[in-house]
Amino acid sequence: MRFSPREFVSLAPLTTLGVGGAARFFVDASEEASVLEALSWARQRGLSTRVLGGGSNIVAGDEGFEGLVLRLGLRGRRFTPTGGDVLLEAQAGEAWDELVAETVTRGAQGLECLSGIPGLVGATPIQNVGAYGQEVAETIVRVRALDRETLQTRELDAAACRFAYRDSWFKSEVPDRFVVLAVTFRLRAGAAAAVRYAELEQRLRADGVAPEDAPLARVRATVLALRRAKSMLLDPSDENGRSCGSFFVNPVVPLERADAVARLASEAKMPRFPQPDGRVKLAAGWLIERAGFTKGTRRGKVGLSSKHALAIVAHEGATARAVLDFASEIQTAVQARFGVELVLEPVVWGAQSGRAAAGSETAGSAPPATLP
Ligand code: EPU
Repeated sequence: MRFSPREFVSLAPLTTLGVGGAARFFVDASEEASVLEALSWARQRGLSTRVLGGGSNIVAGDEGFEGLVLRLGLRGRRFTPTGGDVLLEAQAGEAWDELVAETVTRGAQGLECLSGIPGLVGATPIQNVGAYGQEVAETIVRVRALDRETLQTRELDAAACRFAYRDSWFKSEVPDRFVVLAVTFRLRAGAAAAVRYAELEQRLRADGVAPEDAPLARVRATVLALRRAKSMLLDPSDENGRSCGSFFVNPVVPLERADAVARLASEAKMPRFPQPDGRVKLAAGWLIERAGFTKGTRRGKVGLSSKHALAIVAHEGATARAVLDFASEIQTAVQARFGVELVLEPVVWGAQSGRAAAGSETAGSAPPATLP
């Protein structure tokens, strides 16, 4: 059959932020063979490609995207018991939260704190998705990915993925080179839930549940409640709903800088998370508020979530330009007040956005690609 992509497909309704122009070409791919066919087609025409999953971490530029957008619809989950573990292979197009729900129902431990995160499985290794004290790096054993340069499939083990906080080899060393096709997780059958995040632990205790004995389902329900209270669950009826979740990565700074920030803010308690390398992770939402942007701050049709200062919300009629300008204003203010650089968490497609795009695929030069 001749490959025939759709043309001029509006990206705004396909992303949770809801802004942006159209994709020049667009195709739904629900099999590996169709992914390959689409990539070959684009290559023959010299078009660049972008992969769309759940659209929850993308700012689509107002001018749209001139290449081919490939929406991944590969489905399938396979649970295989091995000793006390369960190997779970999930195809990239599986809905992340449905997968987490099934692991919890099956008593397979390892993903419970990652409940309520929007998007699809294929996106999770790219930025090492994490929340409430857990990240996918802890359980991923293998990633199956298609190399867009060679059009060959590769199997990468966890070491090759070089996971770090909100980062991986895919994201920082070979951006846009691989399409994730499937991810394999090693989960622990019947193991106790991982309760490590203070807020989660406190909420469980307040509800009369001992964190060390909390059933997986209870942890999932509690995480969902915490996320809902912060408008970090996808909910069309939520006034803060049109967002990408966290708009900035939490900055990891040297100890001296963390101490300087605490002095500058002159508040008794600053959230700080010491890292194994001696540096300190700061809470970007906290910095944003102390730099003068209270929750709910508005700039026309864009603003901060009224529940969490780390989420930028695009209200009805907002543009990508306005979202990125607001992000840039926040970056400048946090830098001026605390000497800390905030880097965008979502990727920006196609927008020429100056400073706000730093860290996105449209700006800066990527480090040389080296294959592990
Ligand atoms: N805080 C503020 N003001 C705010 C928001 C937070 O002062 O408006 C303070 C909180 O009081 C707390 C600290 O900042 O002391 C951390 O806040 P929170 O627990 O909400 O977590 P976060 O660091 O803001 C990260 C992830 C979230 C994840 C939560 C929970 C990043 C960039 N974000 O947010 O991930 O759900 O932890 O684990 O690491 C996402 O990536 O889209 C996302 C929602």
